[in-house]
This record gives sequence, structure tokens and C-alpha cells, in this order.
Amino acid sequence: MLRDAFFHPEPPAVELRAFTHGLQPRTVPAMMQAFADDWRARGVDAWNAVPDRWHAGRNTGWWNLPEVLGDAFLAPLLGVPEGTAIHLPSVHAAVAGVLSSPEVWQRGHRLVTTAGEFPSVLHTSQRMQRLLGIDVDVVPQTPDGYANVDGLIEAIRRPGTALVAFSHVGFATGERLPNAAIREIVREAHAAGALVLVDGYHATGSLAIGAEALGVDLYTGGLLKEACGSAGNAYLYIRDGLDLTPATTGWFGGGDPFAFGLAPDVHPDVRRRFLGGTTSVASLYHAVEGVRVLLGAGLDRVEAHVAALSARAVARAQDAGLRLVTPGDPARRGALLVMELDGADEMVAYLKTRHVYADGRRGRLLRIAPFVWNDAADVDRCFDVLSDALGTGAHRGHRETTHGPVT
Ligand SMILES: Cc1ncc(COP(=O)(O)O)c(C=O)c1O
Repeated sequence: MLRDAFFHPEPPAVELRAFTHGLQPRTVPAMMQAFADDWRARGVDAWNAVPDRWHAGRNTGWWNLPEVLGDAFLAPLLGVPEGTAIHLPSVHAAVAGVLSSPEVWQRGHRLVTTAGEFPSVLHTSQRMQRLLGIDVDVVPQTPDGYANVDGLIEAIRRPGTALVAFSHVGFATGERLPNAAIREIVREAHAAGALVLVDGYHATGSLAIGAEALGVDLYTGGLLKEACGSAGNAYLYIRDGLDLTPATTGWFGGGDPFAFGLAPDVHPDVRRRFLGGTTSVASLYHAVEGVRVLLGAGLDRVEAHVAALSARAVARAQDAGLRLVTPGDPARRGALLVMELDGADEMVAYLKTRHVYADGRRGRLLRIAPFVWNDAADVDRCFDVLSDALGTGAHRGHRETTHGPVT
């Protein structure tokens, strides 16, 4: 669908790992050159003004780039109004900012979250728990490993709930929470006086999220994966009118940063308060090149394309005898598909020798996400190679040749 908008690995390979790091949009090298040019030509003045490399139609400098990208790219990506989304370096930073806001804990003393959360929510909240003097209530998953919506609602109804945090698409299972379930959780949380924070990393770029219509208070995610923005690029949406004053903010988020006063003051734009120290601006030059491509194609079209490829992959996986970890119901899937396969790591290594890039976890999970640069032939090539290998055992004994902690 959008094959030509991205660089592809050589030789012609089938890249199915959008869920972990997107391909490089073809405009990125020029944007990185633009960063070098702006730095070289303007030096410190680039903080005040650089050419409008993003076609945002606004006066832009490195100083206001996090909000400019928020309005021009993140707002349409998330389906939220201008003035409510900001670029941040990581989901961890966004979550820490929310948790450090005293307004959240004026509502109660309990964070309700799920055992299916990524560490940027689960660990960050537990690390801050003692400091904040709050309780973190971690709702276990259902026996089949999915989000326990009934359990979450039960936990929300217990006294003292201030914040509810959960994933839009589970990182371990690929389970997508349907909009109706998100709205139900939001209703319950708001009835309890609590705020809702959604981690939408695996929805970002692959689903038409519509965060405002979902009624959530806060929505965070990153641009590294399906949004194809690479590292250092994440965001936070803060519902219009929600007043938060994060304590983990830095001087870039202050109201009058160059006054260098003795005490911090509060920035009038609530988004800006979530900034920390000096913005790492180089990553902002590649942050939204993928988003630009996806918005240009239309998020509804992207979602439909991904759904069609996923359906094909699910059918082929079932034919090959793989157990699906991701729900079979298409309404409960995002782009990420997780399947169970004995010897998954060997299969991943073998697929790589055949120029098909997938990913394995813990020796028994195979993960793929057919995305906008893939077509049906890519999905078929993956499962043709896989099925043949299952028949012959050709994958047995294969090992990853690139060793490191990242999978
Ligand atoms: C659901 C989810 N949230 C958060 C993250 C990571 O966020 P960050 O590294 O920006 O804190 C990931 C990364 O893989 C993820 O899958």
C-alpha cells in the first residue's frame, strides 16, 4: 500500500516487525540533513526560528517544536483538538509526569492498573508508589492472559480510586480493547471521580484512535514502532481543561524559564508543563515523517489494510497449526499478532536466513505485524517458508546471529 514511502532492507526482504521498530520513511535522510543545516547555519538562534521543515504553517524554532508537532501531527494522529498534545521523549516521561501531578492524588490514593502493562506504566508507578504515598492496585489478567475488564471495573469501584491506567493494545498479546470497553471503563472511572490514562503505543499509527471521542483524560504512546519515527519520540495528550502541574517537570516546562527565578512557576499551557530539561531536538527531525505518510494515506485506510493482512496471517497461522495468542476476533486485534510455536527463536533465525523478518519471545512466541508496506504476498511468503520449515524441521538448530538484549 505505501511500500515506496519507506526504505527496505536489502536484498528484497519481508519486514514484519513494525510493532518493535518501524522502517525508515524516505524523507528522513533529508530531515536529518536539515537538522545539521539548521544547527550549522543558525547555532543558538535555531531555538527561536528554523525553516518550517514540517510544513506546519507556523513560526517554528527548536523551543516550540514539541507543541508545533503536537498540533500539526499528533492531534490528527490521535483525533484530538489542537492545544492538547505534546511531543515528549518517552512514555516513561509522560507517565512519570502524570503520576507526579498532585491534582491526581487529590482525587484519591489509588492507582488502578493491570498486570498486562508495559514497564513504562507498571514499573514506573511502582517505583514512585512510596514517594507518592499511594497504593498501586494491579488487576491480574484473565486466565487466558487478556485484560480483565470486569476485574478492572470492580477495582475502580473500590474507594479511593484516583487514576486508572491501561493499554489500548496489549504489548504481550496484541489484544485490542474495543472502544465500547474503553468507554465503559471511562464511565466507571469518571463516576468514581478518577482520571483515565491510556498507553496506546501499539495503537499509534495503526489505528484511527479517536482519543477525544473515547473520553479518556490522558493518552500516551510512542512514535518508534508503527508510526515509524524511531527513538526519542513519544507524546502525551491531556484532555482540554484538565489542570495538572507535574513535579517531574524541568525548566523547559516552566512559566518564565529565562527569568531564572528562585522558585519554579507554572506554564499557562498545561502541555508545556510536561517538558523536562533541554529538549533533545535531533530526534524531532525524524519524529513525524512516518506520521506524515500515514496521515496522508488516511488512518481509516491504514487500519483497513492492516486488518485485511492480519486476517490473512491469522488464517495462515491456523492452517500451519500455530496457536494464536492474539484474540481471533478481528475487533479485538491491532497490528501486532502473537502466536505460539515451539522453537519460535529457531524459526525467527531461520526466517531471517530466508529474508523474512519476524520476532521471537522466550523461545515459544512468534510475533509479526504486517503493516502498510506489506501486501498479501509478503504474508504468504512468511507462512510458506514457516510451513515448509515446520514440515521438514529446517529451522531446527538455527540461532540468531546478532546477539544483544533487544528482541
Ligand atoms: C505498550 C508500550 N508502552 C510503552 C513502551 C515503551 O515506552 P518508553 O520506552 O517510551 O517509555 C512500549 C515499548 O515497547 C510499549 O510496548
